[in-house]
Amino acid sequence: MRAKPQSFDRVLSSMCTEPHPDAREAALQFLATNPGDPGTYPTVAALEDDAITALGEITGLEEPAGYIASGGTEANIQAVRIARERVNTPTPNVVLPESGHFSFRKAADLLGIELRIVPTDENHRVDIDAVSESIDEDTALVVGVAGTTEYGRVDPIPELARIAHDAGALCHVDAAWGGFVLPFTDYQWNFSHARIDTMTIDPHKMGQAAVPAGGLLVREAALLDELAVDTPYLETTAQATLTGTRSGAGVASTVAAFEALWPDGYAAQYERSQANADWLAATLEGLGYDVVEPTLPLVAAAVPTGTFDALRSKGWRISRTGNGELRVVCMPHVTRSMLESFVDDLAAPTVRERSSAPL
Ligand SMILES: Cc1ncc(COP(=O)(O)O)c(C=O)c1O
Repeated sequence: MRAKPQSFDRVLSSMCTEPHPDAREAALQFLATNPGDPGTYPTVAALEDDAITALGEITGLEEPAGYIASGGTEANIQAVRIARERVNTPTPNVVLPESGHFSFRKAADLLGIELRIVPTDENHRVDIDAVSESIDEDTALVVGVAGTTEYGRVDPIPELARIAHDAGALCHVDAAWGGFVLPFTDYQWNFSHARIDTMTIDPHKMGQAAVPAGGLLVREAALLDELAVDTPYLETTAQATLTGTRSGAGVASTVAAFEALWPDGYAAQYERSQANADWLAATLEGLGYDVVEPTLPLVAAAVPTGTFDALRSKGWRISRTGNGELRVVCMPHVTRSMLESFVDDLAAPTVRERSSAPL
């Protein structure tokens, strides 16, 4: 095969990144292992326990339980599935902020659940009153996002958890992207801050593990039992994951990245990424663009369509929010010099002169 993977040097829109060298090495070593069959592959199964213990430490979960999923999509689907099993109604619903990831739409489709989408406020965080109004006795799950995909916002998680439990529903936090930076902030987002039942936290995003490494955590192991099906031909008797055979690469690289980076390496990376986001936001503002304040390392700015297209044609891998803003995710591979070169291109007359086209 001649094809080589593309480099990350112009990738500004991805929520994945270059894996840490130790994580890459571990992924290669465990590529052909299958944690989906722990009776046959006990080494990687034991490593998965270590991975979940690591994720538990990051998220303040005292008795960690969960598994390494294929990504945030699987973890979110599974969280909805747990909640559906717990609620006693033929017509369950899930209350989701409009900032929620589209994986919940897949979950709703697959599981036959009604999604009740609630608006966000002027700061792009979920409107708590709207959540309260949407909940009823058929509500299985209330979702909060800790690090939204488009603006990096953290919903008021303790309030959401309280409202959910008062209504007899479960509370899920989607920290797929934010989970590896939030420990170094003052946000209230994890199991020790609120009575969260389930959480998505993805090592293959800010955790610098290799793809595929998503994480599903549950407050108590009994919640995982809601997912378990019998596995007659395997050495073990039940399986809670959505996929059957799955790569041990994500499991091993999660542990390797954690051992290399927790906590100081992740803290330093957060500082670098946030400083880059703050610098980019200030620079774009200086150029006259409206910028959404980067409260986590993610910048959104209202850049005209012509400019956006010109930047893409220069090879920058950028994307837009639902409102049409340019979106730059300051992942670990996104360096200051990369952003300087991006801004140079943005400020070039051939790119800026297209700015007259409306957003
Ligand atoms: C908040 C959030 N949740 C879930 C996902 C889905 O994760 P994945 O693409 O790993 O399935 C994403 C992806 O960017 C995300 O930002």
